[in-house]
Amino acid sequence: VLVAPHEAYIGSIDQGTTSTRFLIFNRDGEPVASHQVEFKQYYPHPGWHEHDPLEIITSIETCIEGAVKSFEDNGHAARAIKAVGITNQRETTVVWDHETGEPLYNAIVWTDTRTQALVRKLKARLGSDKLQELCGLPLSTYPSVGKLLWLIENEPKVADAYSRGTLAFGTIDAWVVYRLNGGPKKNIFVTDPTNASRSMFMNIHTLKYDEQLLDFFRFDMNKLHLPKIVRSSDAEAYGTLTTGVLSGVPITGCLGDQSAALVGQKGFSPGRAKNTYGTGCFLLYHVGDKPVISTHGLLSTVAYDFDGTPQYALEGSIAVAGSSVKFLQNNFEFIKSSSQISVLAETVEDNGGVTFVTAFSGLFAPYWIDDARGTIFGITAYTQKGHVARATLEATCFQTKAILDAMEKDSGHALAELAVDGGMTNSDLCMQTQADLIGIPVERPRMLETTALGAAIAAGFAIGVWQNFEELKNVNTAGVTIFKPKISAQEKDKKFARWEKAVEMCRGWAD
Ligand code: G3P
Repeated sequence: VLVAPHEAYIGSIDQGTTSTRFLIFNRDGEPVASHQVEFKQYYPHPGWHEHDPLEIITSIETCIEGAVKSFEDNGHAARAIKAVGITNQRETTVVWDHETGEPLYNAIVWTDTRTQALVRKLKARLGSDKLQELCGLPLSTYPSVGKLLWLIENEPKVADAYSRGTLAFGTIDAWVVYRLNGGPKKNIFVTDPTNASRSMFMNIHTLKYDEQLLDFFRFDMNKLHLPKIVRSSDAEAYGTLTTGVLSGVPITGCLGDQSAALVGQKGFSPGRAKNTYGTGCFLLYHVGDKPVISTHGLLSTVAYDFDGTPQYALEGSIAVAGSSVKFLQNNFEFIKSSSQISVLAETVEDNGGVTFVTAFSGLFAPYWIDDARGTIFGITAYTQKGHVARATLEATCFQTKAILDAMEKDSGHALAELAVDGGMTNSDLCMQTQADLIGIPVERPRMLETTALGAAIAAGFAIGVWQNFEELKNVNTAGVTIFKPKISAQEKDKKFARWEKAVEMCRGWAD
């Protein structure tokens, strides 16, 4: 044991799509302090979505200072924080100059659809049908690769750095680790396999960058710097924080946020699954130590790699979940805060015939319709805001149902219950709807910060705070709420058939 476990606290940076948090966990997996800030979303054109990479770093520093202050106010000493883990929005693409450490463009966010035409061209290229077997992902606007190609083709500063051989690419984890370590001086330039598996450059079987993939995308590897792929839990590879109250504390864990949520839900054995309702919604199903390549519209991804034996998951990705509630709040001004969505939805008894396909970024799993756009069906003079609110919540639940059906076909197993987490699961109405539509119980833990907990677990394992999964068996087990299905199978099927019809009808809207 490197650290006396009972004395150790672990910090967790949770860098999500719309907000950043820093949480401090004790060895029982309980959060004892936290701080959260929202940061600016840039939508320069329809379908475009960007973040300022420097603002992301500032938001992390602010959260660390804020959480450590309340930790100390509660009588703890900052030096009790022995390690920090990182979890992050995946696929979001950052480019910077390898020599100066300065970003060359805003980060292109995973939801961004500007690469639609580029992806169409890539799909027509010889060999495109072989990509998924190698990297686990189908070609779409979602992975990092298209965003990087777009930047090289369209942004002179990026093209220039590429031609000079100083272009560095990273997903958010790599960027954050690099900057928190002080940038080019130490040049800690690493990523973990759960994040690297979202780029389309990494071979999912070997966890190494793959020449065949890089050749397909026509990258010149003399001109591009990619982060080294290291384990998700590692005492040395991620360096240390260099500034602020936690200066000198090692970063010892790193997981893409959906993998982190699976770890936080203790999905350590094949057959375990979780569904996280964040900005988007992502269902991960642990398949063991060999990847399963989907034939039904799912992704193969790395669940985690703690000890050199990587574990894999099948993933169903939904692009729009909590962001649809935010949309009703910010764009339609139906509610003043996300937490009011249930109250609004409960002003009516049902959706009043309204179906809302929330395809703001096209539709992801299992449909993969890049050219779909958000569409509301069934509006009449009878339609109230409450009906739209219900239809909005139902959209995520229907997509989850479609993903579970695909997962059953790919894995040959039907789930007996669904473990959930994430902000939207605060809505009892949404969770009841979910149970009704999938016909199995939905289980919601009391502590919903499972993503941050997962990163803390990865970091804690590296320094010996926990040494085996058995030690985590009592973490976050109290206070689980179970939602049981209440509608008949016939009613469920009827609702789902209507949803599937609506999905078909929103194809081809965006050029
Ligand atoms: O793949 C995108 C995902 O990692 C974003 O997660 O929680 O910000 O919706 P979230």
